Amino acid sequence: MQHLEQTLIPEHSLDRDCTTLSRHVLQQFSSFTAEAQDISAIMNRIALAAKLVSRRLSRAGLMAGALGFTGETNVQGESVKKMDIYANEVFISVFKQSGLVCRLASEEMEKPYYIPENCPIGRYTLLYDPIDGSSNVDINLNVGSIFSLRQQQGEDLDEQAKDLLQPGDEQIAAGYVLYGPSTVLVYSLGKGVHSFILDPSLGEFILAEENIQIPAHGPVYSVNEGNYWQWDESIREYIRYVHRHEGYTARYSGALVGDIHRILLQGGVFLYPGTKSKPNGKIRLIYESAPLAMLIEQAGGKASTGTQRLLDVVPDKLHARTPLVIGSKEDVELVESFIHDWTRRQSEAQPLKIS
Ligand code: F6P
Ligand code: MN
Repeated sequence: MQHLEQTLIPEHSLDRDCTTLSRHVLQQFSSFTAEAQDISAIMNRIALAAKLVSRRLSRAGLMAGALGFTGETNVQGESVKKMDIYANEVFISVFKQSGLVCRLASEEMEKPYYIPENCPIGRYTLLYDPIDGSSNVDINLNVGSIFSLRQQQGEDLDEQAKDLLQPGDEQIAAGYVLYGPSTVLVYSLGKGVHSFILDPSLGEFILAEENIQIPAHGPVYSVNEGNYWQWDESIREYIRYVHRHEGYTARYSGALVGDIHRILLQGGVFLYPGTKSKPNGKIRLIYESAPLAMLIEQAGGKASTGTQRLLDVVPDKLHARTPLVIGSKEDVELVESFIHDWTRRQSEAQPLKIS
């Protein structure tokens, strides 16, 4: 009987089904410390938020009042969608009375949200973009959530969240959820990047791929070319270069998480450079580009502002933006070389000062 079971149920498939997200998180730690248990519990709550958002997205078209705009504008000056508010509140709700996270900060809230009853025990801040790419929501295309976990320092009684104005290297964990044909969660605790797929029949995220490595080069360049005349000449030169050379192809979904997921698995580069009206581009540092940069670096790729390593950038405010060039190492370096060369040519072209 035992022999029969072994032939019918290959051990590796059972093992794979049993490698849930919480088990995997615990395996990342060498011992069963309080920190390991905390981080595992936090990841579990994030997974619950992802399941709730995923469930709502899959039914939104059938529900009254789930889609469309609220009529409000957020701190970024962007029109808020009902799904943005729903997802923002889901993350708050899963961490209430958890004893795990003292403070949450998101794209949808001007100031951090405190959960005072958690603060004496839960010394963490969760930073998140509840629905990334929300312009895709109403047309049933992929969207995502992005998250980042930091240790909280000090009391921050003035609610300025000054302790968060530190480089992305301070992140303890980072990840995203991609709500596509299936719901995928990708995370890193600084020991590689791992992906999980939600099995709706189990209600569990099951390990899909461990220690993902991004190709050193890929064919995709992902950028909103509608901004062509808004960019610096260096970016225009790079785009003309890929137009003129074989082996490049453009992909841009309108949701950063989707574009990054493609690049993580297949290689290439995503760019959101500064524009004339937005010199720092559009992507927010603390809860968008820094977590994605941590993942891409952990996978062997590169993330930069075009001139500086992204995880070294110190934000000047909670909702700070930076230009973003992220993806395969060789492709990011190619973009950086265009920026570097153009800057050098500009400085050489400056007339000499005669003293
Ligand atoms: O969160 C910002 C975001 O929605 C990203 O998901 C996306 O890549 C980008 O903005 C799209 O912006 P644009 O419409 O300006 O290309
Ligand atoms: Mn976003």
